Amino acid sequence: MDFFETLIAERLGGKNFGKSTEIYKFEKIKRAKAEAKLKFPDIPIIDMGVGEPDVPADPTIVEVLSNEAGKSENRWYADNGILEFQEAAARYMEKVYGVSNLDPTKHIVHGIGSKPVLALLPICLINPGDITLATSPGYGVTSTYTRYLGGDVYQLPLLQENNYFPDLKKVPAEILSKAKILYINYPNNPTGQVATLDFFKEVVEFANQNKIAVIQDAAYAAVTFDGYSPLSFLSVDGAMDVGIEVHSMSKAFNMTGWRLAFVVGNEKLVNAYATVKDNTDSGQFRAIQKAGIRALNSLQITKETCDKYSRRFDLLVTALNELGFSAEKPKGTFYCYVNSPKGTKSGIRFDKAEEASTFLIKEAQISTVPWDNAGAYLRFSVTFNASGYEEEKKVIDEMKKRLQKLELVF
Ligand SMILES: Cc1ncc(COP(=O)(O)O)c(C=O)c1O
Repeated sequence: MDFFETLIAERLGGKNFGKSTEIYKFEKIKRAKAEAKLKFPDIPIIDMGVGEPDVPADPTIVEVLSNEAGKSENRWYADNGILEFQEAAARYMEKVYGVSNLDPTKHIVHGIGSKPVLALLPICLINPGDITLATSPGYGVTSTYTRYLGGDVYQLPLLQENNYFPDLKKVPAEILSKAKILYINYPNNPTGQVATLDFFKEVVEFANQNKIAVIQDAAYAAVTFDGYSPLSFLSVDGAMDVGIEVHSMSKAFNMTGWRLAFVVGNEKLVNAYATVKDNTDSGQFRAIQKAGIRALNSLQITKETCDKYSRRFDLLVTALNELGFSAEKPKGTFYCYVNSPKGTKSGIRFDKAEEASTFLIKEAQISTVPWDNAGAYLRFSVTFNASGYEEEKKVIDEMKKRLQKLELVF
């Protein structure tokens, strides 16, 4: 007998680990893509499912990394980070979000991407039986770690009728009494919704009333357009007393694979995060942090990226609406979240967005990401492969032509 069966922790399923036959959403997409490629080798897949930028980091950022990579002073463990990066992050928070009075030594610590930051934060707060309130659909890392730690997750559905904001008034009292974390993410993946000042004020009040720590996942915070200025949770009075914000270099500076992020906000929680982090990793390579400083000083890079996404959204949203979707251009992120088709004129029915998404890959070689958590929706990303307006238009025209042939019904 394989004795590892008896060793695997219960949090991973114990003896049942690895035996589940359930196929997860992203694996299903991968398999459907492979099938489509095999069946139609000459038809390229139009990939609207990608969750990361389509181009590499700006050459000026890459140049700093290549200059710094071999320097002797950068070779050490970086531990909880270099002060210059924290100082650059503090200046960035002031310039972009108007958040001043941040002490880079107390209110900011870097992370190796925001994903591990979101994983470590529950370790600071969750005891067995405690609850994390988390918006759904959403980025699940904080929820997964809450469960690993013996806590529970209470889902806050993001519904269209509530403008994709959680209805905090609906959380039952017995849940509130055990809740320790409120995880929110604006601009939101996948709905594309951006926060309002009023919503953030409501969150501060809610957190104070119920003594709950707020984790605002700001991975897309700087990716905004159409007159919506980037908004930080910390710009609201009292936010520093109740929570932290997690910023990422991945989306605003096309640095996904570089793995760099920072936590900013409440001193005690930042300190708790720093303690857990110090016991988990030894920090991101100093040369990458120095390249990150260059990025944080180069706001023009984000602006150009946002202009590109905005232009692509104009093409995408027009095409989707002509096809019968009810698409609205978001004011942030690179995601368009639309009602999933119910079937086709020929009589095929989709009970879930997942079925529609698989059908689109197999029959039109168009990849999207389905969400069935709070209604049936498809997520189209504007990070598809194309260089310049003419190519972007060609991709969208081709997508439209292929979808038209399917005769979708809504
Ligand atoms: C909402 C959200 N948060 C966090 C992340 C993680 O970003 P990173 O770890 O690259 O900083 C992602 C990545 O897709 C995301 O969509």
